[in-house]
Amino acid sequence: MSAEQQNRVNASAPTPTQRKTIPHDLFNKFVEVIYQISGIRFTEAKMYFLASKLDNRVQANGLDGYDAYYNFLLSPSAKVKEHPELLNEITINETFFFRNQPQLDAFEMDVLKPMLAKRRQQGRMTLRIWSCAASTGDEAYTTALQLMQMDEAAGFRIEIIGTDICPNAIAQAKSGQYKRYAVRNIPPALLQRYFVEQEGTYSISDEIKRRVRFTESNLMDSAKVRMLGKFDIAFCRNVLIYFDNASKEQVLSNIHSALNEDGVLLVGHSENLYSHRHLFKADKSNMSALAYHKAPPGSAKLDV
Ligand SMILES: C[S@@+](CC[C@H](N)C(=O)[O-])C[C@H]1O[C@@H](n2cnc3c(N)ncnc32)[C@H](O)[C@@H]1O
Repeated sequence: MSAEQQNRVNASAPTPTQRKTIPHDLFNKFVEVIYQISGIRFTEAKMYFLASKLDNRVQANGLDGYDAYYNFLLSPSAKVKEHPELLNEITINETFFFRNQPQLDAFEMDVLKPMLAKRRQQGRMTLRIWSCAASTGDEAYTTALQLMQMDEAAGFRIEIIGTDICPNAIAQAKSGQYKRYAVRNIPPALLQRYFVEQEGTYSISDEIKRRVRFTESNLMDSAKVRMLGKFDIAFCRNVLIYFDNASKEQVLSNIHSALNEDGVLLVGHSENLYSHRHLFKADKSNMSALAYHKAPPGSAKLDV
């Protein structure tokens, strides 16, 4: 079982101390609010997880129950301060450096190298890469580390941007500080060269840090996504699993608009875009990269 799957199982299998429950109707109302804010669709199986997380917010706000918290969430003033706090509680930020090495190898060989070679030939010496659910930044910094090792990238102006809806995750990404768990897969030579370890905390060097920019952004928000500009490569790994079909469609449509015509989208190993093939077409020639290209204009939408 992958860490992601384990995490999701953990989220739905409470320990006795987490056994908080919410009346069914109220649970459904919270599910709708969270869906409106983030596109994340909680199912009944996550009831205990959500109840426990909401209880943390009830306590933090000094309220006397879930009902009061629900009303507070709907108030206009909650949008700026409380919605981000709620997102800090409920998002699953599981990530680590060099996650899925076979995919990263295929990405380098089959996506990056040909793209860089083609661009060099055309005299287009720029590359923009987007880690669109970046969490604490591990994925975006991994890409920076990968590119640092590639002679083919020499002379390119490369911009890497990491975005996430979770404010705490973005703050940690900006700090560039990690525990052993996050860096355990980094090849030892790279770890030694680009990180300083002090009392179990690994700080990434400024040389890597300045190559990546982080900002909060909601993938559901078309206007915010548009402000990020156009990208050549987008990583959208291990987040589509939290959306339902409608929010996935919205998110993928935003990513589609953000990608250049020859852009490439990379997804997680348990995600496939078959139901959204009017937007993205799997690159069958390099399946292990889990890479998708924009579907040709006019591609038929699947009836679901
Ligand atoms: C499991 S992490 C994946 C991190 C990284 N992509 C990886 O594969 O290692 C999922 C991330 O998606 C973020 N997320 C969830 N909904 C989002 C949304 N609507 N917009 C942007 N990020 C979102 C969460 O905050 C969380 O950090």
